[in-house]
Amino acid sequence: MLSDHQFQGESHIEVNNLTLQYHSDIPPTLDHLSIAFPKAQITAVIGPSGCGKSTLLRCLNRLLEPPPESIFIGGKDLTTIPVLELRRDVSMVLQAASIFPGTVRDNLLFGPTLTQQSPNPKELSQLLDTVHLPTKILDSDASQLSGGQAQRVSIARALANKPKVLLLDEPTSALDPAATRTIEKSLTDLNGTDLSGFSCSPSMRDFSKGFTT
Ligand SMILES: Nc1ncnc2c1ncn2[C@@H]1O[C@H](COP(=O)(O)OP(=O)(O)OP(=O)(O)O)[C@@H](O)[C@H]1O
Ligand SMILES: [Mg+2]
Repeated sequence: MLSDHQFQGESHIEVNNLTLQYHSDIPPTLDHLSIAFPKAQITAVIGPSGCGKSTLLRCLNRLLEPPPESIFIGGKDLTTIPVLELRRDVSMVLQAASIFPGTVRDNLLFGPTLTQQSPNPKELSQLLDTVHLPTKILDSDASQLSGGQAQRVSIARALANKPKVLLLDEPTSALDPAATRTIEKSLTDLNGTDLSGFSCSPSMRDFSKGFTT
């Protein structure tokens, strides 16, 4: 598995000698993996099918439990952070868009409502702008969106929680080239914000030149 980074700067997430074995009778999926990921950048994680990209992402928000002291976020051992607290900071977007029933606005307000936040209309509009969707889509039935629009709403919904880290597991693999380019552009635009992002894909071909950082 490769990350396209050879960076020297401050790291936000450090993976330190991580070994993850699903069952004792099969070899570890991740075997003494050490990588440091930079802060406030979108990083592409590339590797062939089955090499453990999704496994790594699942460890980063504790959908899978990594061994203690194998992943540090902002210098803190991930396994010492309460899971709900961690998942507020580390948000995951899956391969297939998961849209909740209701309007686009309902989807965007879902996370903030749970934490008694209420983004104002300007903030909702900015969230949509980040994923290149128009404000007028706010009152559309989310179940009627195209695949690409639905995935962009999924990303905006994750961003509405103001995560520090965004994990994207093959976010464009089910989309056509035009929808893929729009999402890659949205992710590229996030470079330079405080957000650290990890997008994984089986092949370098799935990333446009402009997307890799
Ligand atoms: N729940 C599980 N139980 C047992 N083995 C698993 C489980 N989930 C994944 N694996 C195995 O771990 C390995 C890595 O799987 P993973 O899904 O992380 O790969 P990946 O790099 O994301 O692949 P892809 O590009 O196809 O999504 C595979 O050999 C897979 O069969
Ligand atoms: Mg995968």
